[in-house]
Amino acid sequence: MEGALIARDKVGVQDFVLLDSHTSEAAFLNNLRKRYQENLIYTYIGSLLVSVNPYQELDIYTVTQMQLYRGVNFFELPPHLYAIADNAYRVMCSEYNNHFILISGESGAGKTEASKKILQYYAVTCPTTEQLQTVRDRLLLSNPVLEAFGNAKTLRNDNSSRFGKYMDIQFDFKGAPVGGHILSYLIEKSRVVHQNHGERNFHIFYQLLEGGDKDLLCWLGLERNPQKYTYLIQGRCAKVFSINDKNDWKIVRKAFSIIDFTEKDIEHLFGIVASVLHLGNIQFEEDSNGHAIIRDGSQIKWISKLLGAHLSILQEALTHRKIEARSEEVLSPLNVDLAFYARDAVAKAIYGRTFTWLVNKINGSLANKDSTQKTVIGLLDIYGFEVLDTNSFEQFCINYCNEKLQQLLIEMTLKAEQEEYELEGIEWEPIPYFNNKIICDLVEQKHKGIISILDEECLRPGEATDLSFLEKLEEKVGDHAHFVTRKLADQKTRKSIDWVDFRLLHYAGEVTYCAVGFLEKNNDLLYRNLKEVLCNSKNNIIRECFLLSELDNRRRPETVATQFKNSLTSLIEILMSKEPSYIRCIKPNENKEPGKFDDFLIRHQVKYLGLMEHLRVRRAGFAYRRKYELFLQRYKCLCPATWPHWHGPAVEGVERLIKHIGYKPEEYKLGRTKIFIRFPKTLFATEDAFEYRKHLLISRLQAKYKGFLGKRAYQKKRKAAIKLEACWRGALARRAAKKRTWAVQTIRKFINGFINRKKPLCQENRDFVRLSQYHYLMKLRDHLPKNVLDQSWLQPPSILEETSEMLRKMCMRNLVRKYCRGLTAERKGQLQQKVVTSAVFSGKKEGYLESLSQPFLETRLKENDLNPKVLQLIRGENIKYVTPVIKYDRNGFKARERLLVLTQSSAYVVEMAKIKQKIEYSTLKGISTSNLSDGIVVIHVPEDNKQKGDVILQCEHIFEVVTKLCILANKQNLIKVVKGSLRFRVGSGKEGTMVFTVGPEPQVFKDKTGQLTVVRAQLSRGRQLELPPWISICREHSPPSWEPRRD
Ligand SMILES: Nc1ncnc2c1ncn2[C@@H]1O[C@H](COP(=O)(O)OP(=O)(O)OP(=O)(O)O)[C@@H](O)[C@H]1O
Ligand SMILES: [Mg+2]
Repeated sequence: MEGALIARDKVGVQDFVLLDSHTSEAAFLNNLRKRYQENLIYTYIGSLLVSVNPYQELDIYTVTQMQLYRGVNFFELPPHLYAIADNAYRVMCSEYNNHFILISGESGAGKTEASKKILQYYAVTCPTTEQLQTVRDRLLLSNPVLEAFGNAKTLRNDNSSRFGKYMDIQFDFKGAPVGGHILSYLIEKSRVVHQNHGERNFHIFYQLLEGGDKDLLCWLGLERNPQKYTYLIQGRCAKVFSINDKNDWKIVRKAFSIIDFTEKDIEHLFGIVASVLHLGNIQFEEDSNGHAIIRDGSQIKWISKLLGAHLSILQEALTHRKIEARSEEVLSPLNVDLAFYARDAVAKAIYGRTFTWLVNKINGSLANKDSTQKTVIGLLDIYGFEVLDTNSFEQFCINYCNEKLQQLLIEMTLKAEQEEYELEGIEWEPIPYFNNKIICDLVEQKHKGIISILDEECLRPGEATDLSFLEKLEEKVGDHAHFVTRKLADQKTRKSIDWVDFRLLHYAGEVTYCAVGFLEKNNDLLYRNLKEVLCNSKNNIIRECFLLSELDNRRRPETVATQFKNSLTSLIEILMSKEPSYIRCIKPNENKEPGKFDDFLIRHQVKYLGLMEHLRVRRAGFAYRRKYELFLQRYKCLCPATWPHWHGPAVEGVERLIKHIGYKPEEYKLGRTKIFIRFPKTLFATEDAFEYRKHLLISRLQAKYKGFLGKRAYQKKRKAAIKLEACWRGALARRAAKKRTWAVQTIRKFINGFINRKKPLCQENRDFVRLSQYHYLMKLRDHLPKNVLDQSWLQPPSILEETSEMLRKMCMRNLVRKYCRGLTAERKGQLQQKVVTSAVFSGKKEGYLESLSQPFLETRLKENDLNPKVLQLIRGENIKYVTPVIKYDRNGFKARERLLVLTQSSAYVVEMAKIKQKIEYSTLKGISTSNLSDGIVVIHVPEDNKQKGDVILQCEHIFEVVTKLCILANKQNLIKVVKGSLRFRVGSGKEGTMVFTVGPEPQVFKDKTGQLTVVRAQLSRGRQLELPPWISICREHSPPSWEPRRD
């Protein structure tokens, strides 16, 4: 119901109990229609399920659906067969008691389908073992066999059950299905010999002809065409579109093998089925005496073969009747009509009893041999109230059965209600309802009831007829309020009742029965000689069905009605001892059309099924009742005192709750364990409040839960981070510790190595030495001398001194090599000249060192600086060098500005345009300079006429001039560096002396003694010799300084 409360606004109400106008049939139908049109075929009335046949496959019977309903509180989910089945099963398991599910409704309403679906539900959802699998299969497969033999196509239903069925499913203490038992009621035997237009005989005949293989048919003497058999063609619809006989045959054949049928059983069973068909084809004709004889002997031969009966005896039995006259037995021939009657009686009898045998056989295979106690759930699939145009004996029995079941239902429901009220200590309020006991009594009361009267008429000697039976009825029950005949009826009703009819006012409505055939059907006579033939049959099944003991029993067998009454009484007893569940099936239209809701037809069924009655009973007291715990559990959130937990007794909690909600005293009652709510609207209001509150609570819960999840995730992350951190720190610390240990060891080793560094390479100092070697080399790599002049070199450790020296030399060689390779030819020439200079002056003459950085120029003056005349004079000679000089006269030592021109062969002293003196190199006798930085050079020439005497020159670039001169003259060895004084030739055999001295001022003068005194100023180191200004101009042409190696 809780599910219904939620879903009530969607499509009608899921439980009729919640209908506001519960007494209105229109409201009831309206709700049913609304739901049916949405394919919601199930609705509850309390715990009773109303089912409307959908006439289409709905997606509500899947295994998923089964699992959904499994073990779920009955009221939690939308109404379903499975909820009923599951509820019964769960109560059975928990309370260890027996149950039954009564499925009723008119033909085609869906009873059999419902019972099959319940069986499937148990097969799927109950626990089972491999061993029990067979039981499960047998339970499931017993259905197709029973349906083949007991179902037929009727105008109302293509698969109409023509018998009532009660099936017990047995469960062990674990709730596993372990066995079963079937009871069958009143199979419609008349169908074997007669079918109405548009109807068929039992399915098995058509299945055999359609599906049976050739050999089988041949063995049975049958032809495949059903048109050949009288018993199959009366309805003129042997072939039905909706039925696949061939397929069904296969299923039945397979089922036989599973439910323990031997090949012999099957052979005999089909022998009987075929015999019925052959029987139907037997035709009688009158002989000359008006006695019946069989027209064609071929059928009877097949019957004799298949039933294992003697041919002639069988033949005789079909055409004669044995009459016992006193102690004698006389054979009396039958007329044609009686012969046909006898033939049909045999056919009905053997089919009817074979069906009973079949049920017993199935029961044998379903039986659980184990003697442990079991609980059962019974499924009762029984015909509902039947009202046809002409209602006969069968309808009488069926409707009687429904009266009994209705009584059972009312009694049980009322009983349950009353018991509950008493149990709960609530005052019992009598419920107005119609008790149909009065009708049951009318039918079944001993001696006074209709059945007793019928039996009486059947058994009494003399000419009893259906009309005499009717008269008896009028006589004996004519004054009963629920019985009417044409004679007894008032003017108005009389018209609708025939002379042969009687009318019963059933709880569900009036039904008019035609009394014709009642006696014959109730008697169900089979002539004794025919019985004898069957008792002696060689067909095992027939022999088992017709026991010889029956022949000896001289008492008349019980009439059909009495048998039925007795079996119903025992069925009611069986049911009374069990807990009930009800399913009421409704057929929505006569055309088997999905979605069509025929109001008239359904109203009729609602009435016949007693649904309004049931609803009234159910609603008479209270619309809703629930245990305090459950009620409190559901609605506790509506009251602050009970939310979220109520710690006191549930009843007090409920009291607080309803007080808070504001229930009025007339709206509810409190029982011992349950609250009873009288009106649905009270409950709806509570439910609405609950729905509203639920949303609030859910969002609060969601928020809390999300917060909780977030917190949990955060804490998890935090923990993880801390762990990671700890691990990482640990790793770092371990790494650092390792590093420290390593460092300590390394340092220790280093110190050790340092202490022992002077020792030859050994264990203690090896690493240190290697390290210092390595470091020295690495450091050296970055501090190598940059050029040839760079003298820097890293101080090596003592162990590497030798290597260092080698490296140093290598490095130097390499730098020198690089330097040399980088020199131009001109530079090389200059350097070579410097080399000559070095050889001559190094360590001998002052100023040499300072001159080193002064590169020699090619020339100090260009050729163009010479007077053209001079150039003309020395034409032909290659001028190599020109420089301004000061020439001192040989006599007065007067200083004259001259140019010194060096060619490849001679040196010229030039004055403007004149060559003052030419000195051929070949005649050159020597070149002298002083050891001081005075710039004086004396070129010694030979004593001949041409030469005037030695040339005394003073020049700024003394080293350059002298070097160039001696190189050009190739007279390096003629150069002299003198100290103090030198002698020179003045000319014509005279000599002079030149004295070199140091003074405050540089001077060149002729001293008093006539000597040439050259004074070099006391110079600070590096200071240039001061020369007359005109010479200085040449300095402007000086090339950039360079730094030759000082060594
Ligand atoms: N739940 C259902 N889903 C789909 N179809 C159904 C359902 N119930 C019944 N039917 C259809 O209705 C037909 C008749 O159903 P069923 O044989 O169960 O009726 P019945 O009440 O047993 O009738 P009878 O009293 O004649 O045996 C089925 O053959 C099937 O086609
Ligand atoms: Mg059925």
